[in-house]
Amino acid sequence: MKARVFSGVQPSGNLHIGNYLGALKNWAKIQYGYESIFCIVDLHAVTVYQEPATLRAKIEEIAAIFLAAGIDPKHSTVMVQSAVAAHAELAWMLTCVTPVGWLERMTQYKAKSAAQETIGDGLLQYPVLMAADILLYQAAIVPVGDDQAQHLELTRDIAQRFNSLYGETFVVPQTSLPLVGARVMGLDDPEKKMSKSAGGAGHAVALLDTPDQIRKKIMRATTDSNPAVDFETMGPGVANLLAIFQAFAEWTDDRMKAHFAGLRYGDLKKQVAEMVVSSLEPFRRRYREITAEPGYVAGVLEEGARRVTPVAASTVQLVKERMGLYTC
Ligand code: TYM
Repeated sequence: MKARVFSGVQPSGNLHIGNYLGALKNWAKIQYGYESIFCIVDLHAVTVYQEPATLRAKIEEIAAIFLAAGIDPKHSTVMVQSAVAAHAELAWMLTCVTPVGWLERMTQYKAKSAAQETIGDGLLQYPVLMAADILLYQAAIVPVGDDQAQHLELTRDIAQRFNSLYGETFVVPQTSLPLVGARVMGLDDPEKKMSKSAGGAGHAVALLDTPDQIRKKIMRATTDSNPAVDFETMGPGVANLLAIFQAFAEWTDDRMKAHFAGLRYGDLKKQVAEMVVSSLEPFRRRYREITAEPGYVAGVLEEGARRVTPVAASTVQLVKERMGLYTC
């Protein structure tokens, strides 16, 4: 049996090139080497309030984006987290072996809770649910962007703690980060990670932006006071634009240096914009095709839930047996 890959995206906000370069592009590339499950994690999204009708529409939009980004539903499973109740069930069992101190240390929890008036318990439990997503399918590899690395470490800690308390139960998963593009920064503020939920109009290039929108955003990106690319002294804005280009083009460091050293920022931005626009062209075309076919995406999601339900059920059964819970 092939090793399993699992990863997920929250259906909140607009997916951007950071999500693509940090996660989706890598998923499409590695999917055939594994048994792959890609999940729309709607239970994670509701850890902060989501307008219900918008959330419901976003779930299918994200599924269509997965498919347009090259996830092949004949080979890989695309599913919605809340369609398989075992995610929440296993999360409870893992909650009971997770010290609160581990959760309070999470940087995303600290950042997100600082922005809320009242902190829902779900925000604290968030990484336990994420651990449940992964451990439920005994996934060996989890391809994510750099911002999820700490949650993956926690997942490993939870799996190891459970295994040492109750005996070998879970596969302890490995994190897979892309070499370039693991942390795409905001175009307006290259000190901050590009984010679905933060920032103004010039912050992120959304995957569903038109070519003109993409060009405008990149041409306005923050750079620094140098006139042209200098690999020794460049600031984070220029480094970010170069990383975006490199991640799309898949050029080596040497080729990047030979091509871009000394290029004026105006020309750099034009080349980055054209690389992003042309690389996303097949994505945009497939997205149009996929969404033009009524019921197609819903069918893929139904089939996805149907495929993974027995796998999830067998892990829950094993965990119940290990813990001495009631099994009929
Ligand atoms: P989410 O929805 O914030 O992001 C989805 C994926 O995109 C990556 N990513 C980035 N990569 C590079 N640069 C960026 N600026 C950037 N922003 C986001 C993320 O690292 C992620 O891979 N907690 C997860 C969802 C999740 C999950 C899981 C992931 C829930 N359960 C189980 C893996 C396995 C999240 O909020 O991702």
